[in-house]
Amino acid sequence: TDPAAIRNFSIIAHIDHGKSTLADRMLQITGVVDERKMRAQYLDRMDIERERGITIKSQAVRMPWTARSGPNAGTEFVLNMIDTPGHVDFTYEVSRSLAACEGALLLVDAAQGIEAQTLANLYLAMENDLEIIPVLNKIDLPAAQPERYAEELANLVGGDPDDCFQVSGKTGAGVEELLDAIVTRFRPPVGDADAPARAMIFDSVYDTYRGVVTYVRVIDGELKARDKARMMSTRTDHELLELGVISPEPIKSSAIGVGEVGYLITGVKDVRQSKVGDTVTNARRPAEDALAGYKEAKPMVFSGLYPIDGSDYSNLREALEKLQLNDAALQFEPETSAALGFGFRCGFLGLLHLEIIRERLERESNLDLISTAPNVVYQVTMEDGTEIEVTNPSEFPEGKNESVLEPMVKATILTPSEYVGAIMELCQSRRGNMEGMDYLSPERVELRYTLPMAEIVFDFFDNLKSRTKGYASMDYERSGEQQADLVKVDILLQGERVDAFSAIVHRDHAYAYGVRLAERLKKLIPRQQFEVPIQAAIGSRVIARENIRAMRKDVLAKCYGGDISRKRKLLEKQKEGKKRMKTVGRVDVPQEAFIAALRTD
Ligand code: GTP
Repeated sequence: TDPAAIRNFSIIAHIDHGKSTLADRMLQITGVVDERKMRAQYLDRMDIERERGITIKSQAVRMPWTARSGPNAGTEFVLNMIDTPGHVDFTYEVSRSLAACEGALLLVDAAQGIEAQTLANLYLAMENDLEIIPVLNKIDLPAAQPERYAEELANLVGGDPDDCFQVSGKTGAGVEELLDAIVTRFRPPVGDADAPARAMIFDSVYDTYRGVVTYVRVIDGELKARDKARMMSTRTDHELLELGVISPEPIKSSAIGVGEVGYLITGVKDVRQSKVGDTVTNARRPAEDALAGYKEAKPMVFSGLYPIDGSDYSNLREALEKLQLNDAALQFEPETSAALGFGFRCGFLGLLHLEIIRERLERESNLDLISTAPNVVYQVTMEDGTEIEVTNPSEFPEGKNESVLEPMVKATILTPSEYVGAIMELCQSRRGNMEGMDYLSPERVELRYTLPMAEIVFDFFDNLKSRTKGYASMDYERSGEQQADLVKVDILLQGERVDAFSAIVHRDHAYAYGVRLAERLKKLIPRQQFEVPIQAAIGSRVIARENIRAMRKDVLAKCYGGDISRKRKLLEKQKEGKKRMKTVGRVDVPQEAFIAALRTD
């Protein structure tokens, strides 16, 4: 295809502002998906994406479009649309996709207005030098206020409120005009067709049948089927067994050239051999310089994953390996816990990422898992000068450390002005530092804070939502470290330390934390045949204590000794109830208790 006829663009928006629905309409209007095959969220291919109504992986799809009006009327174009996820955990996916585009549609719900991820995504698009078309979506809603938000949006991106497009992804209103605007306002890709091939990998996905499928955007030259391709970072060569474009199913092609977006299959088995951000070139005529890559996605939240049934350990390893083939951001290494046995310490991008991986492991591999309270990563300098990285709270060196650095984030919160006080109070209680505040309009305020990451990754968002009746939105990014006075709070059951319950907490909050956790565990751990004392301690100093009294009745007492089959039934019933329990020492601890350790309401 002639690069002059190609337009590569992406749709960016706050979560739920309607990207996937608009993408669906475009697929339909351009005839790529016919009426019969259409289903909602066409591009969200994973079950879990469809069930939760969220996009996790980016998707690229090619659509033909003959302009209907304007200077290009009658001319045929090729549009490559890249659908991106909206949640903060997956920001790295967004930035990769943007690097493969020349333009972005900035989509805003006309009944909601600008939200935190609208801003975050706009800044990403601007960093990538993309042309931006502001679009108000959902104008069919009775509550839509397109005039009011066109003003806000124009203030934000510059330009006139009349330049904002008004569409409905649901009814299709305004979508044809928007497609016409894409071909006139976005610039075509530029590249050197005669230069050695250079293509940027923006996604890599493992497929059971086809091996790794790599998605690329060609910058210079051409990639041809049967050629030998070289991954520039690892200098490994692979034959291009198949290449093509997605429209909306894979269509084989003999070559893809400048500006085109397509897929490659080389027979490699692991996404790490076909790394996102790497440059693909031709092994016979290699390019000299690789393209500027992306920052690698670094895990920010760690948690231990343990099989409830110890014999599932190797199944868990296999399942994790399989998921990692598809998700280079997932990290894991073996770990042993005195309480939980053999498991893995896993690194995730955030809590949603953790939840999704856990759910996929349980569902796709049929495993019952216990996950420990998530934590961030601490840099500890010891008295003798050695530095260690702590990803597991139970390994936090008590008393012998010189200094501890905790990761910080810059958070941007957008809120209706009446909630500013409530939000400031929340941020204050989470050791936040206010960096600035701006009125985007008389009713809408942007608050900027630096906060310790540990204070926001868990329940901050829920708290923010409940304090603002759901109206505030938040986005954050990593931003350096700060020295902090942190201590490890341990939990002891019957005098035995349960490593899985250890947490790293600010010294000022440690006492309250210990008391709360002991109280909560008392409610969560069922009575046993004997008394169980629960203690919270910092080092050897006990800061809180609760008691679970012994169970009075033996369940078997009811059976009058004789009836064996009834007895067996009762025991089996008990075992069922224990399914999600882990025996720690002699104490049965339910799964909820491990999760409860992180709630702070
Ligand atoms: P993520 O993929 O999770 O980021 O969400 P998204 O931005 O792709 O949003 P999605 O398309 O899933 O739409 C979110 C909700 O808004 C769904 O319930 C849609 O049915 C609804 N919706 C989307 N577009 C429109 C529209 O034009 N009009 C109306 N009335 N509802 C819409």
